[in-house]
This record gives sequence, structure tokens and C-alpha cells, in this order.
Amino acid sequence: MQFSMFVGNIPVYKKISLSPMAGISDSPYRKLCREMGAAFSYTEFVSTDELSHYSSRAISLLKFEEIERPIWFQIFGNNLETIVKSALIIQDLAPDVIDLNMGCSTSKVSQRGSGAGLLKNPIYVGKIIQSMVKSLNVPVTAKIRIGWDEASMNYKDVVHVLQESGISMISVHGRTKSMGYTGKARWDIIQEIKSFAKVPIWGNGDIQTYKEAIFRLNSSGVDGVLIGRAAIGNPWIFSGINKQTLIYAEIRNVILKHLRYMLEFYGESQGVILFRKHLAKYLNHYEGIETEKTKLLTTQTLKDLYMLLYDLEDKIQKLNSLSRSCSLKLKDSILEV
Ligand SMILES: Cc1cc2nc3c(=O)[nH]c(=O)nc-3n(C[C@H](O)[C@H](O)[C@H](O)COP(=O)(O)O)c2cc1C
Repeated sequence: MQFSMFVGNIPVYKKISLSPMAGISDSPYRKLCREMGAAFSYTEFVSTDELSHYSSRAISLLKFEEIERPIWFQIFGNNLETIVKSALIIQDLAPDVIDLNMGCSTSKVSQRGSGAGLLKNPIYVGKIIQSMVKSLNVPVTAKIRIGWDEASMNYKDVVHVLQESGISMISVHGRTKSMGYTGKARWDIIQEIKSFAKVPIWGNGDIQTYKEAIFRLNSSGVDGVLIGRAAIGNPWIFSGINKQTLIYAEIRNVILKHLRYMLEFYGESQGVILFRKHLAKYLNHYEGIETEKTKLLTTQTLKDLYMLLYDLEDKIQKLNSLSRSCSLKLKDSILEV
């Protein structure tokens, strides 16, 4: 395996990975993405207000399997003592890295000074990171945005403060907080950050395909890239396989594997319900299966889910042979002209 980089003392062997996504990057999906070539595992963000009270709900979000390593635990919060206390609590669960979220733009988080809200106060962030680095025996990383809004793109200050405080890697989503998910990620700024940063920089934003990931790696020079939305229902993106070129049986095999991981992790009833949103994304490139997709979103039992998958297979095969015969007819009529 070709060596890529160290994050603190943790070796990372690849350059493309799954971005943390609440409700998506749980242990079953991280495991699948790692098998398909993702570089490491990044948990969904977990509240330090909850962790500091040993909330079992919050702690359960950090469950992982050994096969997922290296594993990044991501936390969010706005208070130094609470963040450090939580980090010490979760360090006992043996993560490889603990990451501070400085990018969440939802107002519930950022207006309280957590997530992207931390960007407004680089000096305080420096104190938080210094204190985490001093207290923990795992590397500390952060995932940032490029600023709060257009008028306060303070990424230079933020990156310098993070570096001076002992951070081991920074992931950069190339948008401001106020952009949310609108506009385009500023890869020119990600490239600029890479040009002056002294720690590994992972770039993130709007990557749609494996080819685009390679393009971003080469053109910006970043140490790695994170893929979020385009990886939902598309774990193949980490292996360089274009989902659109796969036949349904190949897609179904991965769907069934993902479903098995979900059932093993969550148990049957919760597993089925949580899997529905993934399944809808696995099927998003098929047209003509709207009825099945609607049914899928209300499926409650494993039996119904399996039945639906068999119906879908049937329907997709019919649609495929119909489109094949249409294109043959079209070819014939072109030849006749
Ligand atoms: C549903 C969803 C949940 C997200 N949850 C998190 C999270 O928990 N932690 C985090 O750092 N970013 C989170 N993000 C942001 C992504 O990690 C990523 O930075 C963003 O989607 C941009 O990358 P993309 O264009 O490849 O999707 C989330 C994004 C989405 C769409």
C-alpha cells in the first residue's frame, strides 16, 4: 500500500474519505465506505453538552468497529471546560483522533457559538485546542469553514491559531457559514490555505465523482479530500467505480450488504427505518420507479423491504429491456433514413 501521510502519530494510507454527516456517517456506512476505499472513518458530530453528562444517546453515536480504524471522533461545543471534559471521557473509547467541529452552519448550533460559531472567536479556539492537546493522548484535528460570512473570511487567522495550538490536521469546507450549502465551494481558498499551512490540509466541498476528487487533489495540492453528499447512496465513489455504469445486480449486492450491516448494528426495526433514506439514494439515478420509491419511504418491516427490493429488480429489468428495444428501434429508424 502506498503511504500517504501521518496525522499526529496515525498513518493514513489514502487521500479520499467520507465527510462526517449527521444521520449518515454511522458505523455501518463508515464500515462500508472503508471497505470501498475511504481513507479513514469520521463519526457524525456529537454534542459535548450531552457527552459531559455521560448521555448514553450521545455515547452510542460513537460506537465503532475495529475494522473502521483509523477512527476520528467528532465533537461540537462552545465551552472550553465542557469540550475538554467530554474529550477526556470519549478518549477512553480509544479513538485514533478527536476532531472539533468548527463548521456546522445550522443556527441551532452556530448561533450558540458552537460549530461555525467558533470561527468568530479564534483566540478562544486557540485556548480550546491548546487545552485539548495538553490533556489528551490522541491527535487533535478540526474541521472548519473559511469564515462566518463574506465580510469576515478569517481563515488565515483561524489556521494560524490552530497550528500554533498544536492541531494535527485541518479539514476545510470551502464555504462561509452564511453560505450554508449555497453557491460554490471556494477551492481557490482551500488551495491558498494549503500553500501556507504547516499541517495536513483536507479539502472539502462539492466533489461529485472520483475523477473530480483526483482533479481537486492534483490542482489544489491538498493532502486529501472529503466527500459528503455525493457519497450518500454511492460508496463506489471511493473506489473509482462510476455507479451509473453498474448493472442493477451489482448495486443490489452492495445495498444488501449495507442493509446487513445496519441490521447487525441497530437491530431489525430501527435498522429498516434508518436504511430507507440510504436506499432512496442508492436508487436516485433510476427513472420510472417513482411508485416503488414512494412505497420504500414508508416500509416498516424487513419482509416488506425485501419484497420491495425483488419488485424493484423486476421493474428495473423490464425498464432496461424496454429502453434496449427502444434504442434498437431508434437505431433501425436511423439506418432507414
Ligand atoms: C446531512 C448532512 C449532515 C452533516 N453533518 C456534519 C457533521 O456532523 N459534521 C461535520 O463536520 N459536517 C457535517 N456536514 C457537512 C459535510 O461534512 C460537508 O462538509 C459538506 O456536506 C460539504 O461537502 P459536500 O459538498 O461533499 O457534501 C453534514 C452535511 C450534510 C449534508
